Amino acid sequence: MTWTKKHLLGIEGLTAGEITEVLDTAANMKEVSSRDIKKVPVLRGKTIINLFFEPSTRTRISFEIAEKRLSADAVNFSASGSSLSKGESLIDTARNLEAMNPDLVVVRHSSPGVPHLLADRLDCSVINAGDGAHEHPTQALLDAFTIREKFGRLEGLTVGIFGDVAHSRVARSNILALTRVGAKVIIGGPPTMMPRQAESLGAEVVHRLEEMLPVVDVLMILRLQFERQQEALIPSAREYATLFGLTGERLRLAREGIVVLHPGPVNRGVEISPEVIDGPCSLILDQVANGVAVRMALLYLIAGAAAGERKMGQKRWRAEDAEVSSRPPGRARDAREEVNE
Ligand code: CP
Repeated sequence: MTWTKKHLLGIEGLTAGEITEVLDTAANMKEVSSRDIKKVPVLRGKTIINLFFEPSTRTRISFEIAEKRLSADAVNFSASGSSLSKGESLIDTARNLEAMNPDLVVVRHSSPGVPHLLADRLDCSVINAGDGAHEHPTQALLDAFTIREKFGRLEGLTVGIFGDVAHSRVARSNILALTRVGAKVIIGGPPTMMPRQAESLGAEVVHRLEEMLPVVDVLMILRLQFERQQEALIPSAREYATLFGLTGERLRLAREGIVVLHPGPVNRGVEISPEVIDGPCSLILDQVANGVAVRMALLYLIAGAAAGERKMGQKRWRAEDAEVSSRPPGRARDAREEVNE
């Protein structure tokens, strides 16, 4: 199959085949990062703006590295220091940036739906790098990649997602992605942190780690998102750590071979203890490393799809179209051929 989507706005709307295509393409891209010269020319001449209205370390830096490893021109925008402080609106900001003719915008914003709004109003491609408590699709894809790399498959695995599920865009995107490719998902956390109608998300619900640990192959611990909580959902961080934190002692209840994920940033000693973060079951830094490969794959697939769309009658970028269309864009096989050039 061939990727045809111009945007990545969420996991919702992706098929199992499309998710697999991203993961297969990322597997080919990963090798580039281990070379002495970590650069391939597949997005040469493309301009990508990273539009971050919320803080980020992993997502922003890994997008920038991915863009540079594909030879795109990467431009970073952060809200602080921009003309937003002079009262310019989000849409005016985006339209002014678009006047400089980027090919793709990566956007993170605290309001759900901002990537969809930009995709509606702008001509260029849009990738959602996290919108409020709605979705974080590139995180879910890199999590799925990391799990598949460890187990060789996703189908038939049981994945537990524990913590502040109600405020977590990571949880929502992961539930959608993992269930779509045949994994079973169990969500858990204090009742005040469970979404309303949690079962309608397609996941089983438990309230204690002790119930989840013996039955899951993968345990994803979520960060307590104090910045998104409108009211105190727990008495204190210390009480949360005591009742719900993943400690080395609790981990002893786990199934043999369990792996632990966390999207970061971690609150060390709150939702997860230092000995687990730095212990043998932790894949937390593998997730970060894989974020580069997965974002390279998405940029490659989306740029290829956009070039195909322009080739079929749109007005801009004729020279680039010719360059990209000399190889059919968007298939894992082509990514492998191109990164081996
Ligand atoms: N996982 C994640 O989105 O981390 P950052 O907020 O640092 O990008």
